Amino acid sequence: MRLALLGCGTVGAEVVRLLNEQSADLAARIGAPLEIAGIAVRRLGRDRGDLPVDPALFTTDALGLIKRDDVDVVVEVVGGIEPARGWLVEALRAGKSVVTANKALLAEDGGALHDAAVEGGGDLYYEASVAGAIPLLRPLRESLHGDRITRVTGIVNGTTNFILSAMHATGAGFAEALEEATELGYAEADPTADVEGFDAAAKAAILASLAFHSRVGAADVHREGITEVTAADMASAKAMGCTIKLLCIAARGTDAQGRETVSVRVHPAMIPLTHPLASVGDAFNAVFVEADAAGQLMFYGRGAGGAPTASAVLGDVVAVARNRLAGVRSASESAYAALPVRPMGEALTRYHISLDVADRPGVLEAVAGVFARHDVSIATVRQGPSGGGNGDAVLVIVTHVAPDAALAATVSELRGLDIVRSVASVLRVEGGL
Ligand code: NDP
Ligand code: HSE
Repeated sequence: MRLALLGCGTVGAEVVRLLNEQSADLAARIGAPLEIAGIAVRRLGRDRGDLPVDPALFTTDALGLIKRDDVDVVVEVVGGIEPARGWLVEALRAGKSVVTANKALLAEDGGALHDAAVEGGGDLYYEASVAGAIPLLRPLRESLHGDRITRVTGIVNGTTNFILSAMHATGAGFAEALEEATELGYAEADPTADVEGFDAAAKAAILASLAFHSRVGAADVHREGITEVTAADMASAKAMGCTIKLLCIAARGTDAQGRETVSVRVHPAMIPLTHPLASVGDAFNAVFVEADAAGQLMFYGRGAGGAPTASAVLGDVVAVARNRLAGVRSASESAYAALPVRPMGEALTRYHISLDVADRPGVLEAVAGVFARHDVSIATVRQGPSGGGNGDAVLVIVTHVAPDAALAATVSELRGLDIVRSVASVLRVEGGL
């Protein structure tokens, strides 16, 4: 069984190391020896340390490597949309099996890859693309196929979880926590994809597609990052027995016409400290799956890093290699349900709103009137002194579940009231309070 490795960076180098260390076991598990036919990289002259591999295997001609007749399996750990998309479509159409960790590509154009796999008759596996080492996509794609998944809630980005966990533990602001994450090597030099939620949104799209048997792409995901989360937001969450996490939430729902829909969103949210996801600290990932018959399931582990991600890649390599030897392929993409994606405005959620208000008669009534006008029901109200020594008060309001658009309109109207000095913090609330 011969493998073309595209990319030899953080993940690719660990794939090479594990292949080397475990070659005898892998051969026994597959039923044939597994050999590297070539490794495509961008810079031939890059120092690759003591990587246990013949330097003659390196090439910059990825396409030439893919097209070789002696290549059975293509492993793509380069990342990005192009040229990866062109390479993988070419490989799949030629009947090769593909293993990829490329969540950005799968979320952008997974359909093209699935279609090419059907055309060529090979397998397309991508366990490493979501939550690194955690076996999660295989359970969704196989083990839970007899059940009906209703909701997937996850922490799927390690960098932002590290930052938010640090903010919770130390009271640091976002910038300070990001600096620490960068110094410790958790955040990349350009952290935009992580802190703005693009990485989590790509993973949310992949999870929703598998959970709900529908094609969901990155553009279907409502996305908000964590750059606006302040130390004051975290302090407010802690005061309510909560913390703030960047959540990916994919849920079934029903629209006004009674049609089944899905909503997929990534945003920071307050969750109670008693919620299982609240205890997921550091750069760990965890995904909470709810299904009709199985009930609640929790998947937890390392969502990033060379070795954990390579573990998932190699698990896929063994699976596709065994399929090839047996002359079979795994089931194709399951997108038969084709559920429409519901706009964020219709998603049902709850808000925690902190307001600085004038402390005088009628203020509470005026504020409550705004909620009532938008048909948003208030669950709890807390009032305390503002701390500014100016006689103002702080109102902390938590709502019941309402459509996101109604909640946003409520906040917008509150901002326009002259008795509201400022809207200090607006956070969605998940997991009950
Ligand atoms: P790196 O940036 O560390 O490595 C990328 C590799 O791709 C390098 O070896 C680079 O070559 C090679 N490369 C880049 N452009 C080209 C090109 N045009 N032609 C040939 N080779 C090229 O990335 P990672 O290993 O961190 O990530 C790889 C994939 O895995 C991405 O899709 C990422 O999203 C995914 N992933 C990563 C995780 C992680 O923790 N790092 C976790 C989960 C998924 P050279 O070595 O010469 O620079
Ligand atoms: N940047 C990602 C994270 C890597 O922080 O989780 C894993 O996909």
